[in-house]
Amino acid sequence: MVSLTIDGKKIKAKEGDKILWVALDNGIYIPNLCAIQEALESAASCRLCFVEVEGKDKPVTACTETVEEGMVVNTRGAKALRLVRTGFELLIASHSLDCAHCVSRDSCELLKIAVHLKVKLKTKRLRELPRGLPVDSSSPVFVYDPNKCVLCGRCIWVCRERLGIGDIGFAHRGFRRVVAAFGDEPIAKAKCSKCAECVAVCPAGALYFKDGKAPKRKASQKT
Ligand code: FES
Repeated sequence: MVSLTIDGKKIKAKEGDKILWVALDNGIYIPNLCAIQEALESAASCRLCFVEVEGKDKPVTACTETVEEGMVVNTRGAKALRLVRTGFELLIASHSLDCAHCVSRDSCELLKIAVHLKVKLKTKRLRELPRGLPVDSSSPVFVYDPNKCVLCGRCIWVCRERLGIGDIGFAHRGFRRVVAAFGDEPIAKAKCSKCAECVAVCPAGALYFKDGKAPKRKASQKT
């Protein structure tokens, strides 16, 4: 075990644990979208979990940084918050904001992050960048709306690592990047067990049930 401090709170943690999970386990929220606790490594692609660590000159990502004896972590430092707020504003500038009609609004992690960071969803700092991509409703069970997708990769990870199917992945680059079946085919072309675990881990309502039911989060999906 190691002892560390996060936001002034003294904490004991297992050696090798990442700051993100230690903080969340101890009731200290750090925004995160792409990390999955059961994964050995985080994709570290969302860039929303920056924190400051005493002795380090630059903020570090909490999902990749391992706890150390005597570490002092600040989740609210100005440098880290500036990075996180800018990253989040960029992300929501291209996110289709239709919260009133979104079936995932009660579990939406973007709303939670916006409240935490005190960032307005309709920011004036950046112009809106609608992606205008076609919605994939080929699955009999769920819909994939790439215009709400934050490209966190959680759905791809659970399909591959938790279920051992792995028939969906990212297609295209940059602004046109989407989740699709192999060969940029509609999701219905993928081998799919219809378990809908991908819907349950989507943080932003990009995957939602056709019958309008709200997705059920697993206890293991910490946010
Ligand atoms: S949760 Fe750390 S970079 Fe996404």
